[in-house]
Amino acid sequence: MSAPQVSIVMGSASDWDVMKQAAQQLQDFGVSYDARAISAHRSPDLLFEYVASMAAQGVRCFIAGAGGAAHLAGVIAGKTTLPVLGVPIPSKYLKGMDSLLSIVQMPKGIPVATFAIGEAGAANAGLFAVAMLALNDAGLAEKLRAFREQQAAGVKATVLPTL
Ligand code: RP5
Repeated sequence: MSAPQVSIVMGSASDWDVMKQAAQQLQDFGVSYDARAISAHRSPDLLFEYVASMAAQGVRCFIAGAGGAAHLAGVIAGKTTLPVLGVPIPSKYLKGMDSLLSIVQMPKGIPVATFAIGEAGAANAGLFAVAMLALNDAGLAEKLRAFREQQAAGVKATVLPTL
């Protein structure tokens, strides 16, 4: 198996239903990834070890999804200078607004790029990781261009039903 180019981390296995959208995009573009559920508050030592081991293996960025008091992405960003893409997971009571604000409001100095709440955010984080890797990979850049073209063609072909 090839070394992972991207690491997908989530706070709980219950986040996978959303975070698998990021994995799907990476898989569709042929980008290798490692996906793990590691909680920043339940198992911080394991998280630190994991971040160090992924960085040593050469991943180019982390995609971190968490819900509620979602500090996972910020903690990872505090342990690595690699880009961290944060995905707010929808939560039961606050519908992911808590997750969004926790991830987006990083204090100055340790950035986390924050995406939309839920599936769209996870998929876009995957696509953003692809775009970053495509900066140094002409084949991947071409695949991304074709993907965008396909979306544009879909819009052009849309026919609204008559009244
Ligand atoms: C967060 O708490 C996780 O990211 C998850 O979104 C949420 C609930 O986790 P579980 O109680 O389902 O493990 O840490």
